[in-house]
Amino acid sequence: MADLPPNPYGVEYGQAGLTHVGLGELHREDPELAGLLDAEVRHQDTTLAMIASASIAAPSVLAASGSALSNVTAEGYPGARYHPGTGNFDEVERLAVRRAKVLFGARYANVQPHSCSSANLAVLAALVPPGGTLLGLDLDAGGHLTHGSPASVTGRHYRAVRYGLDASGRIDYRQVAELAAEHRPTVLIAGASAYSRTLDFARFREIADSVGAYLLADISHISGLVAANEHPSPIDHAHITTTSTYKQLGGPRGGLILSGRDHQAPGPDGRTPLDRLMQRAVFPQNQGTPAPASIAAKARALALAAEPLFARTARLTVSGARALAAELVRLGHEVLTGGTDNHMALIDLRDSRLTGVIAERALEECGILVNRNRVPGDARPPLITSGIRLGCNILAQRGMGPEHVRECAGLVHAALTATTPLSDTEYRVDPHQRIRLREHVRALCARHPLPHSTALAEAHGVLRTGASR
Ligand SMILES: Cc1ncc(COP(=O)(O)O)c(C=O)c1O
Repeated sequence: MADLPPNPYGVEYGQAGLTHVGLGELHREDPELAGLLDAEVRHQDTTLAMIASASIAAPSVLAASGSALSNVTAEGYPGARYHPGTGNFDEVERLAVRRAKVLFGARYANVQPHSCSSANLAVLAALVPPGGTLLGLDLDAGGHLTHGSPASVTGRHYRAVRYGLDASGRIDYRQVAELAAEHRPTVLIAGASAYSRTLDFARFREIADSVGAYLLADISHISGLVAANEHPSPIDHAHITTTSTYKQLGGPRGGLILSGRDHQAPGPDGRTPLDRLMQRAVFPQNQGTPAPASIAAKARALALAAEPLFARTARLTVSGARALAAELVRLGHEVLTGGTDNHMALIDLRDSRLTGVIAERALEECGILVNRNRVPGDARPPLITSGIRLGCNILAQRGMGPEHVRECAGLVHAALTATTPLSDTEYRVDPHQRIRLREHVRALCARHPLPHSTALAEAHGVLRTGASR
């Protein structure tokens, strides 16, 4: 694209004008980069993303995250910055905090964490002394790296004890209680990256209370369902709750720290309230300057998450995931726990001849994105794995309900059936099937466009005519 038509928003000097000029410059001066960015939009439009840890951010979220607010350097918090000229950013951060509190029914919110990993590290550093004990779900059982995995600093700086699953593949709460009684952790973590069942936060809190531990709920994966009441909320059960903002909230890369009724419970020194501890934990203890434009994008995403459409999408996500799991079982796949309560389903491939990485790559060749995942007791290394994780966040954003998701399950099944493994990493997909499936995926995506595709088409009409509004 050589030149953009006149800015249709009529504001040449505000953010819209700046974005408009920026896009023009990008296309004129750096066509290589602009071409890649455009290609990504088309790619997202025409592939069936079933990545459980992703959602599609609205154009307004993306616009906010690319705003001039990014030029503001401001350590500290609104009203208590270490730099001048932060009035607009202060208001934006206050807005984001207010919206986070309202959306989650929280009494405290910190919107500065650059990610949920940074949020978890900050919370743990504030509550657990170096060498202190934490208790979290084992990585192989579906936990996250920051919950005490040896591959993370949380497994090296703390004495990390890990709980697992029972014979049915669900969290073994009896084991959690036994390990808590034996090791008396300072923090018990409730949360998972690859677990398809409801988390019983009340039960976790009972266990934490029985040994005087703080309960940290990490709802990185399920925060959209929590916000929409499709999963019980941990806010008043846990002392502290953390989440990513991009997985289910349709926000930018980033994290949040939240707290409910215990926001002023005393910290480990017996005096300092948890909310004050968390403020310090993020800045200055673990982060420097916040990312102002990302915070603006969080504010926008949090507003959208309070809209009825978000709740409808969350309902569709859960009903879609149930249909997905049931259909995969019907087609003969080994679905962990036999089903799902949330947005994801996990397939154990050990009875098939495929590895996780082969399944992931073969599906991608057919236009379907899922990610390889270790399954409990997996003997294969993390880059190979014996499972895949599938999620319905983006399918629901495309408006796909159970009936369409069953069609997606059929496509996944057909792609896996058309794949012949040659080793743990090499394989061959039947070329006729690959072409057929790719076409089917394209047609399905066209019938269920991403939410912004319609807006894009409309805006394109406006840009073409140069009409202002
Ligand atoms: C449970 C859980 N916590 C934390 C994280 C880390 O999130 P982020 O990518 O925001 O650092 C993840 C994501 O992968 C996760 O699944």
